[in-house]
Amino acid sequence: MKNVLFVCLGNICRSPMAEAIFRDLVEREQLTEAFHIDSAGTAGWHKGERPHRGTLAKLAEYDISTDGMYSRPLTQHDRDAFDYFVCMDDSNVENTRRIVGEEKEVIRLLDLADNALTEVPDPYYTGDFEETYQLCLDGCSHLLQKLKKA
Ligand code: 4NP
Repeated sequence: MKNVLFVCLGNICRSPMAEAIFRDLVEREQLTEAFHIDSAGTAGWHKGERPHRGTLAKLAEYDISTDGMYSRPLTQHDRDAFDYFVCMDDSNVENTRRIVGEEKEVIRLLDLADNALTEVPDPYYTGDFEETYQLCLDGCSHLLQKLKKA
């Protein structure tokens, strides 16, 4: 079992987008049993909330499920429950390291992609959820290829 946690700041825009896309890719390859997939935010401001309406609308547009997804904060418990912490930007990496320590694999989603960007811009501020979708799809496709070999 590979335990993958996507991390952003609020856990309502980017990491739920990546979580839903990654789960969809894993289901398409019939690998559901091999993965435990979740997402969390380094801040708990939106705890208990559904993903942002922009993330919900974009995922609905691509026919990807968001069932059962609610915002939650990253906690020290996640250190034991997950192997891979896949972050959206540099500040997520810094904050995740502070919470889960140095031993775990904390990576940036776009480090795996063929994109010049290293951070997923935050659509909470840019309003561009299509950009978020495309970047998350690129990163998640590469992440799945990597983890299938791991
Ligand atoms: P996310 O975006 O980290 O991609 O979920 C944000 C969501 C909420 C806030 C900032 C970023 N906020 O300031 O409430």
